[in-house]
Amino acid sequence: MIAIEVHLDADAAAAMAEDVRAGLSASPKELSPKYFYDERGSQLFERITELPEYYPTRREREVLAGRSAEIVAAAGGPGTLVELGSGSASKTRHLLSAMRDAGRLETYVPVDISEEITHETARTLVEEYPGLHIRGLVCDFETDLERIHSDGEDRLLAFLGGTIGNLYPGERREFLTRIAALFGPGDHLLLGTDLIKETARLEAAYDDAAGVTAEFNKNVLAVLNRELGADFDLDAFEHVARYDAREERMDIRLRSLAEQTVRIADLGMTVEFAAGEEMRTEISAKFTRERLECVYAEAGLEMRGWFTDAAGDYALSLARPIPA
Ligand code: TRP
Repeated sequence: MIAIEVHLDADAAAAMAEDVRAGLSASPKELSPKYFYDERGSQLFERITELPEYYPTRREREVLAGRSAEIVAAAGGPGTLVELGSGSASKTRHLLSAMRDAGRLETYVPVDISEEITHETARTLVEEYPGLHIRGLVCDFETDLERIHSDGEDRLLAFLGGTIGNLYPGERREFLTRIAALFGPGDHLLLGTDLIKETARLEAAYDDAAGVTAEFNKNVLAVLNRELGADFDLDAFEHVARYDAREERMDIRLRSLAEQTVRIADLGMTVEFAAGEEMRTEISAKFTRERLECVYAEAGLEMRGWFTDAAGDYALSLARPIPA
């Protein structure tokens, strides 16, 4: 049984225009990482996940492949799996299989911005898991989180890929607080987070030798050219990926190679870049177990499980609301 609700913002284009205007008017300039993922951007990100330097995807897969039964048991054997940013659900199958093997699997709730991929994933999964109920939500999970409603079953809400690290601390606290507010006593969050390690490995993961990450980062300029009639010259910017040890995060930017003026026709706006000026396009926070316990506590959550890969590079943690 498949039911998919679509709640896409009719004004996504206007929202993007406003967002980009604000980011390019700010000092320092900044672009939201939301706009990386057009078709080309999604393909480039797929390639990033296969790069030798980019370990997070492989490590997360390793944890799920090896420890899903433990995770599902620690979460109390939930019947419903909700997944934020489900995509093709390739890693999720480990969790679904563990729930099935525990005799608990009832419902999968994929939440994703792409309608096409959500339908396709749903069709594949009902074949792989006979009897599985799919109640998909096509929406922006950040704005539409509260559309996720309970069917009374205990739920496991998976937020994988380290995406929580792309939020600023204030946004992160707010988002986790909203998740906690959705939860009943039997619900658990399963959160994927990259862990602090040597700077050289962190920086290499975001600046690979083959240059795929640089291309991915610059692709956001091509998106603005197409969507907003901008005239960014992609060759006039270079990719910068630095680990900020004080903030415990990767800081990813585009640096203007020369003094230049960019025109953004649809915004009626010109933007000046100084030679060497950097514009942030993403942060990616890195955690320790202690730090994450604090992050949870600030949001009214408590950690109930900690699962890492053998090398200790990446963690999946379980959390639930602090009992009253
Ligand atoms: N969410 C991914 C991460 O933080 C996204 C990502 C990987 C990324 N490589 C990147 C974003 C390079 C911008 C630039 O790991």
